[in-house]
Amino acid sequence: MADRRSPQRPRRPRGAHQADPPGTATRKAALRLIDAVLRRGDPLDIAAHAATQGLPPADRAFAVAIVSETLRWMTDIDLLIDDATAQPLPTDVKSRAVLRLALAQLLVLKTPGHAVVSTALPLVDGGPRRLVHALLSRAQQEEWQLPERASLPPETAERWSAAWGDAMIDAAEAAWSAAPPVDLSFAAEPDAAAWEDAQPLAPHHLRLPRGRAIETLPGFSEGGWWVQDLAASLPARLLGAGEGRTVLDLCAAPGGKTMQLAAAGWSVVAVDSSAKRLARLEENLDRTGLEAGIVQGDIRGWEPGAAADAVLLDAPCSATGIFRRHPDVLHRIEPRQVAEMAALQADLFARSAAWVKPGGTLVYATCSLEPAEGEEQVAAFLSAHPGWTIDPARTDELPPGIAPTEAGFIRTLPGTLADAGGLDGFFVARLRAP
Ligand SMILES: C[S@@+](CC[C@H](N)C(=O)[O-])C[C@H]1O[C@@H](n2cnc3c(N)ncnc32)[C@H](O)[C@@H]1O
Repeated sequence: MADRRSPQRPRRPRGAHQADPPGTATRKAALRLIDAVLRRGDPLDIAAHAATQGLPPADRAFAVAIVSETLRWMTDIDLLIDDATAQPLPTDVKSRAVLRLALAQLLVLKTPGHAVVSTALPLVDGGPRRLVHALLSRAQQEEWQLPERASLPPETAERWSAAWGDAMIDAAEAAWSAAPPVDLSFAAEPDAAAWEDAQPLAPHHLRLPRGRAIETLPGFSEGGWWVQDLAASLPARLLGAGEGRTVLDLCAAPGGKTMQLAAAGWSVVAVDSSAKRLARLEENLDRTGLEAGIVQGDIRGWEPGAAADAVLLDAPCSATGIFRRHPDVLHRIEPRQVAEMAALQADLFARSAAWVKPGGTLVYATCSLEPAEGEEQVAAFLSAHPGWTIDPARTDELPPGIAPTEAGFIRTLPGTLADAGGLDGFFVARLRAP
């Protein structure tokens, strides 16, 4: 029997009004999203879900792309806005947010001007409409351009220049201006020749050109590999082959290092406080067929049943080292948060050390470019824990082109392996228990 119900009318996306031009709801979602990141300090990937709810998948992705590119180029976009306005526009007014989003569309994403302007105007109310319209018209008439490289936020540039020197800032800006490549880690050694354009940079690793759609790559459902920046694979590499020995993988979710350790023959217990992130770890283990014990627990209160041959502590941190993939990080993280994370790391570090067997190994790692979360953390640990020593990383256990520091740590900076597409910023130290 024919269905005589009238076809369902498409629902208008959340926040869209009858008179709004097409695409306005997507820009409203982008405005909510950038507000969540800049005003509330929410991580972009977490805030994206709520901010874009009700939009079709392609529009959600476009809203996130607008915000990502706005954040990446925001320092330079703000300079353009400030040069063009007689009265400085406060940094937190809606009209500046609308202008930032619109200029990122015009100058980075190359969205047609009429679509940018018509969808920007409904986002501002009253007086600033005229300002927004005038400025966007000027941007098009005068063919405004962004510099070749996206500038770091000035506070970050100042902090990193003091810690690492000006060459690092150059490399960081180059790294920030281009989407990073895709790194895959493999449980078993891959056949690089079977992968189009793949570059092996280390054992059990392949690098693919940027922009590859992960789920369409061969073997995704079979689970022979997982996505993991080469720098993120270094902490587990320092533990070598497990040969059945025990390792506590602390702060383990979503499990990149757990899978490496299990694949290298360790008997792994993976501990993390987040049930949601542990569910992803479990999915990852299911997909790859690798095995690990899973424990939900806060390291500050949890106790293992017995000491382990090795402990890997991948401590929670500011995550400033992964700024290439997360352009919100440098706009959210301030020195106050770095200090808070460093205090938490010191606590987790001391607890983890108590769970290493005599003579065993502790690997401490963070994806941070802040010395307070790396070198300074280890120095403070060693002075408070007599008998512990640095077990220096050796060149022969690292991918070609990555050298240990003089002290025997691994410190990847934005300039590391730059010709091959660069690395995330990581700090790794291997210590020996008394
Ligand atoms: C850098 S991420 C770990 C990444 C993971 N090791 C990997 O390779 O996929 C840090 C993790 O620490 C966890 N975490 C933060 N504070 C914790 C605590 N007090 N106890 C246990 N886990 C904690 C977070 O839930 C987060 O999953």
